[in-house]
Amino acid sequence: MSVTLPKRAWSQVSATVREQRDYAEGFRWLDLDVPASFGAPVAGQFVQLLLDSPSPVLLPRPMSVAGVTRRGSKLTIGFLYAPVGTGTRVLASLEPGESVHITGPLGQGFPLEEPGTPVLVAGGRGLAPLLMAAESLAKARRSCEFVFGARNKSLLIGLNVAKEVLAKRGGRLHLCTDDGSRGTKGNVVDVLDALAPRLDAPLVIHACGPHAMLGAIARWALANGARAHLAMESVMACGTGVCRGCPLPRSAEARARVLATGDEASALQGNPDWAMCCTDGPVFEARELDWDRVE
Ligand SMILES: Cc1cc2nc3c(=O)[nH]c(=O)nc-3n(C[C@H](O)[C@H](O)[C@H](O)COP(=O)(O)OP(=O)(O)OC[C@H]3O[C@@H](n4cnc5c(N)ncnc54)[C@H](O)[C@@H]3O)c2cc1C
Ligand code: FES
Repeated sequence: MSVTLPKRAWSQVSATVREQRDYAEGFRWLDLDVPASFGAPVAGQFVQLLLDSPSPVLLPRPMSVAGVTRRGSKLTIGFLYAPVGTGTRVLASLEPGESVHITGPLGQGFPLEEPGTPVLVAGGRGLAPLLMAAESLAKARRSCEFVFGARNKSLLIGLNVAKEVLAKRGGRLHLCTDDGSRGTKGNVVDVLDALAPRLDAPLVIHACGPHAMLGAIARWALANGARAHLAMESVMACGTGVCRGCPLPRSAEARARVLATGDEASALQGNPDWAMCCTDGPVFEARELDWDRVE
């Protein structure tokens, strides 16, 4: 008897380091070559990077995709990351030609096709998936407003690349810093307040950055009739819905919908109370989560 398995969008392959370079403030840019059979990720999706054995870390590390380039029979996938702990420090030491296992593409990306004025909002290292979103919008001949904020100017990591991408692709950059050392003095919500009256409604926000910033954007969107898609993070072990280790609290509205429609039917999705960051997300619409309980 033949068994029909559900279609799986991701695969696990061996990737080769193509290039690795220093970025500002200790950040690194990593390019990995994977076979073209690896599904091309969309902006907002992530992969799991597993170091070759022997490795000081057992589990793979989740990483957002910052860029994808097709080169003949290969795909090059780019990452912007901070070496903050054991796994990412070993990743930072890999030389061109060395290998790492990559599983992906994983999770739900930004719904960039949604009608409205696209506003991309990046906080700190949250720039990575939004650079790719700006590229994807440009390929679809859509311009964007790009809000980039940080505590101070030295933490606007990747600003030069953002400028380059937007100059080439026609997006408008709006900078802000908490201390006023670059751009508007204030946070990204202050910029949204100033920008919104000048843009055609509805605004469709796609954002990535610290959870406190994403919560503030979600509340702003809910109060101002905008849609907001927020790329969340959680400590992740499997990245595929199996370990149940990355729950985020659903809103009452989402809970009622899941109960009514049985959206939790897949064993790899969350349950009525909790969404799994890796499979239901990492990108969530503002109405999906209970922002008072997000940590
Ligand atoms: C969907 C997703 C996308 C991500 N994309 C990026 C990215 O594009 N660039 C990037 O630099 N990082 C990204 N991260 C965070 C990255 O996965 C962690 O920094 C990494 O797992 C740390 O591993 P480590 O072994 O170096 O650190 P560990 O030794 O495991 O921990 C060192 C420190 O990092 C913190 N840490 C561990 N995991 C996370 C996490 N998931 N988020 C935040 N802090 C964490 C720990 O609390 C600890 O303080 C992403 C995380 C997720 C869930
Ligand atoms: S990381 Fe395992 S369920 Fe999300």
